[in-house]
Amino acid sequence: MMEQSDIHILGAGSIGQLIACHLAKAGLDPVLVVRQPGICGRQDFCLVEEEITRNFSIRVKSLEQSFRARVVLVCVKAWQLRQALDDIRPHLDEHSEVVLLQNGMGHQQSASEQLPGTGIISGSVTHGAWLSAERQVVHAGHGTIMLGYRDNRLNGNFPPWFGQFENTALSVHWSGNIDRVLWRKLAINAVVNPLTLLHQCKNGELLDQPEVEKQFGHLCREADRLLARLDYRWRESIETGAREVLRITAGNWSSMVQDYRAGKPTELDYINGYLLAEAGRQGLELPNHEQLHRRARQMLADSGAREAAKPAAGQGAFSSHFRK
Ligand code: PAF
Repeated sequence: MMEQSDIHILGAGSIGQLIACHLAKAGLDPVLVVRQPGICGRQDFCLVEEEITRNFSIRVKSLEQSFRARVVLVCVKAWQLRQALDDIRPHLDEHSEVVLLQNGMGHQQSASEQLPGTGIISGSVTHGAWLSAERQVVHAGHGTIMLGYRDNRLNGNFPPWFGQFENTALSVHWSGNIDRVLWRKLAINAVVNPLTLLHQCKNGELLDQPEVEKQFGHLCREADRLLARLDYRWRESIETGAREVLRITAGNWSSMVQDYRAGKPTELDYINGYLLAEAGRQGLELPNHEQLHRRARQMLADSGAREAAKPAAGQGAFSSHFRK
């Protein structure tokens, strides 16, 4: 097994802090990598689970320090990824592996182009988490983390460092078909995130109004049509998956609501924009998704929200990998 110190987490937002605290809770010694210069050494972080608060002393390194990172979990937003990869590049070597844990799609392809020769692992996180203070993360819903190589280079086997996640409460699994996992997550995010944004509610309150529940059903069925077009063997119901996510993350504010309230750009273009672009490529009309995207964009524009960097143009569909 690799040295414990080899797990680096880039980005100290809710998911970065959640993973760092859970690794520390399992007896590991992760490194949280931050942009702020001058921050280094051990810092206290709090994990709140079912109203119990625990403190963990986590090593923090600033990007300006000199260090090598073999395994980096990148926990920034999709629109921040390009800059984050440029920042971490000087700390990588030919053995380094970079794990992408953003919502949305499109950025995985850009990352492989940006860091040729580096092992890129894609991931999907369904845990609900939010920051109740700068260094205090609330684990508001126990989901899973799925990881995998898009080219399935190890034939479904995982790299040796993956074993370090076994004893954590993060439910980390390896997937031999990560594109399928990413598409499923994208579809769920494309329904849950903008709806919670428009209604400014927690995940668990979303289906309280019958009108919203009806719209939720239409959106899920449209997503099913797209997924069935991308993979003729697709049999899953996005509605079942999305209801499950709402149930396990009932106490959570979706990341889109959190970003909106913090005045930060959202991942709307990487989630709904990507889904609609793929529907367009497939010649499919998804009127409910188009309307939802329009309304969410309008709400963000009316609030004067900062625009996020857009996904690079011409990022191809995942379809060829998806049909395995
Ligand atoms: O983006 C989010 O908020 C999360 O992906 C999820 C799983 C919907 C929980 O809120």
